[in-house]
Amino acid sequence: MIQNSHFYIESAWEEKGPVEALWKQNFMSGLPENMPADGDAAFAHIGTVTTPSVDDLKIMVCLEASGQGFYQALADAAPNEEAADLLARSGREEMAHAHRLIRVIKMLNGEDFAVPGPDENPYYAVPEGIAPTPDLMATIAEGEYGGEALYEGWAQALGDPEMGKLLRQNGKEEKGHGERAEHVAILL
Ligand SMILES: [Fe+2]
Ligand SMILES: [Fe+2]
Repeated sequence: MIQNSHFYIESAWEEKGPVEALWKQNFMSGLPENMPADGDAAFAHIGTVTTPSVDDLKIMVCLEASGQGFYQALADAAPNEEAADLLARSGREEMAHAHRLIRVIKMLNGEDFAVPGPDENPYYAVPEGIAPTPDLMATIAEGEYGGEALYEGWAQALGDPEMGKLLRQNGKEEKGHGERAEHVAILL
């Protein structure tokens, strides 16, 4: 059954032509069809979401997973080990956030969605030439505190205790990331 439908999709794809490449890639991986094109657009969209749909959660999975690459790039450019460790730790937690969202998706519609690898994640990028500066750390801290508020809103909107626990754990850690970013700024 799965193989048959896979064959059908492949056949349909032959007829559609390369213009549909992105559609096909997203469909096959379970990513939303009409995803915001890049990370900035995705963040802008997510900022408007008060009650997340499964598609919104999938977009957030991609953003959270991309956060690891971003923080690791900062850690690699950090001027000392303590700052590097703190940044890398926040990065690992961003990936953990993606995995918690996967569990929320499973609770919402039973779907087994997987965190897309760097090659499949449209928002994954390891920025070159980026380095931690006090200004950047302040901007990051602000975003992280915003993340805490966002997750609290989502927890309330979905109104399910189990989902709320996962979303609030993410939110609590986003607050920790904000505090960590402010700490890193002092270490620079
Ligand atoms: Fe996060
Ligand atoms: Fe964070």
